[in-house]
Amino acid sequence: MFKIIDKKELCENVHQFRIEASHLVQKAKAGQFVILRKDDKGERVPMSIGGLDKNKGLLTVVIQEVGKTSASMNRMKIGESFADVVGPLGIPSHIEKFGHCICIGGGVGIPPIFPIAQALKMAGNRVTTIIGARNKSLLIFEEELSSASDRLLITTDDGSYGTHGFVTTVLQKLITDGEKIDMVIAIGPVPMMKAVVNTTREPKVKTLVSLNPIMVDGTGMCGACRVTVGGKTKFACVDGPDFDGHEVDFDEMTKRMKMYAKYEKVAYEKFLHNDCHLAKQIEEMR
Ligand SMILES: Cc1cc2nc3c(=O)[nH]c(=O)nc-3n(C[C@H](O)[C@H](O)[C@H](O)COP(=O)(O)OP(=O)(O)OC[C@H]3O[C@@H](n4cnc5c(N)ncnc54)[C@H](O)[C@@H]3O)c2cc1C
Ligand code: FES
Repeated sequence: MFKIIDKKELCENVHQFRIEASHLVQKAKAGQFVILRKDDKGERVPMSIGGLDKNKGLLTVVIQEVGKTSASMNRMKIGESFADVVGPLGIPSHIEKFGHCICIGGGVGIPPIFPIAQALKMAGNRVTTIIGARNKSLLIFEEELSSASDRLLITTDDGSYGTHGFVTTVLQKLITDGEKIDMVIAIGPVPMMKAVVNTTREPKVKTLVSLNPIMVDGTGMCGACRVTVGGKTKFACVDGPDFDGHEVDFDEMTKRMKMYAKYEKVAYEKFLHNDCHLAKQIEEMR
């Protein structure tokens, strides 16, 4: 069992968990992910590594409530345990001395950028990080990324904090200003990663993206996470999750991620209905 040692709400519907997972933590590297199961009957859900405390053996994951399983996980309390935490899975991010690296994170793609920025800095790179959110209240991991980067640039869609616009607004400005950029790595919603790749395509800046298609086993057996990269079929769980962004077929990936939307919506609504009903019963018993 994998005990929750610490849990906090980072913003609406997004919780950070620190979980006891000593063996996994000793082996894990930046850019990898884990597969969690809440209980014996639970669905397996992939989550990125948002931090590794090797001394205490604690794994950080940040979960955004988007459906039934993420909602039920975000209702778990300190002291409770996940039935399974499988990993580390996937190939670690490629870390070397590139020169000037731009790390870009959006939404729950911001936490996994943190260990990558740390590793790039340790390898002697100059690290500029750009993080973005819809508004100030949804921005997470600012302190962590500020400490891991030489420069942290922030954007919000509504202009409530940092630069008004998207992460690509700032990235485009750096390119237009003639900054020397040796590599970009982006993690976040698919439209954000696609926009980053479109920004760096013409100036030919090496750009990695961390793909998050639907995964089931996470070990290359089921084929659920199939993506097309450079015209070839790849399995994001074992061949990635990092890929050359300029080669990824994002449109196909977007379509595949929506394949079960109808069923996911029903499961989530049922869960919320039961959750509401249970809360009402507890209230009445008081
Ligand atoms: C490598 C990787 C790393 C990820 N890291 C994080 C993270 O750090 N934090 C976070 O909040 N989310 C992360 N995700 C996405 C997370 O796995 C899904 O949000 C979660 O599985 C949704 O489950 P659900 O039952 O709550 O939602 P559902 O209602 O089942 O689905 C909602 C949406 O989530 C996606 N999804 C559903 N099932 C899966 C699945 N098995 N694998 C991948 N996506 C799925 C689909 O796009 C779907 O439309 C990651 C996904 C991958 C592949
Ligand atoms: S999740 Fe099954 S092959 Fe990748």
